[in-house]
Amino acid sequence: MPVTAAEKDHYPGWKDNPLPDGPVGEAIAYGSRILAHTPENAPAYVGNALNCTSCHLNGGRTPWAAPWVGIWGVFPEFRSRNAKVNTLQDRINDCFERSLNGRALAPESREMIGILAYMQWLSRDVPTGKNVSSRGFLHIKSTLTPDPHRGARIYAQKCALCHGDEGQGSYAASGAMIYPPLWGPRSFNIGAGMARLNTAAAFVKANMPFGQGNSLTDQEAFDVAVFFTRQPRPDFAGKLDDWPKGGRPEDARY
Ligand code: HEC
Ligand code: HEC
Repeated sequence: MPVTAAEKDHYPGWKDNPLPDGPVGEAIAYGSRILAHTPENAPAYVGNALNCTSCHLNGGRTPWAAPWVGIWGVFPEFRSRNAKVNTLQDRINDCFERSLNGRALAPESREMIGILAYMQWLSRDVPTGKNVSSRGFLHIKSTLTPDPHRGARIYAQKCALCHGDEGQGSYAASGAMIYPPLWGPRSFNIGAGMARLNTAAAFVKANMPFGQGNSLTDQEAFDVAVFFTRQPRPDFAGKLDDWPKGGRPEDARY
């Protein structure tokens, strides 16, 4: 179910307010720059062309695009993927290592502190321990078996214009990324949440084509997602350590 405009208003933290003055405001602004332009601002930790906000849309303020609003107050949290209680820093580093095919930040690094400051600021009006209603991704189901051939046709008609015929994304003459890649060496790796069929389909359903969320049927979202998630992409060396105590989701790639 899409989030209505009225529902968005439940989360005052989604709105832009002036940043606090002084060092905290500077840390928030720095964190925001890293998240929105990650390869430029944290080059040592990024192994592909994506920004954090390529998926966490609008600076982490879009419902059903794994928003960061409220995220500050819900960690530490148990996750079956590593069978541990994870801090927010652990979770951020998961996306650096998998979604950005890169390396973990030191928990006390200036970059990590900036990112945390930004996420806390976004979360400032959400009660501690409370999930926003649109946390994570939509829950959708396919009625038919997802079909990559149907998906390839949808991709050519509705996605390739921005994401490229070969899923490579599009780039300015300077090399700056304009539209993010969906597969190939500059995209997320096989260990990323977006490499999982259900997650990718749910993201696409709510958010793609960009600016036309909820225009595909659930089945179309699954078909295009099964097509692009199965394309070649970087491997993830740590994959063998995932789900050590079980709970492996059925759509995991390994
Ligand atoms: C390719 C898409 C993609 C990119 C790029 C990405 N993420 Fe994520 N992120 C996800 C997905 C998918 C999830 C949820 C994964 C799951 O279902 O376990 C997630 C979850 C998260 C969460 C937890 C959200 C929650 O509700 O528990 C945080 C925090 C986060 N990402 C931070 C980041 C940061 C910081 C970056 C940049 C270093 C980043 N992400 C880049 C796809 C992405
Ligand atoms: C009008 C251009 C446009 C079209 C058409 C479009 N997208 Fe996107 N897509 C974007 C933009 C822009 C972003 C990143 C948003 C940002 O950086 O703020 C994005 C992000 C994504 C992401 C997450 C980032 C990544 O690279 O993995 C996925 C997955 C995605 N789109 C899939 C699709 C699919 C599937 C379709 C077709 C159904 C589609 N998009 C159509 C512009 C587009």
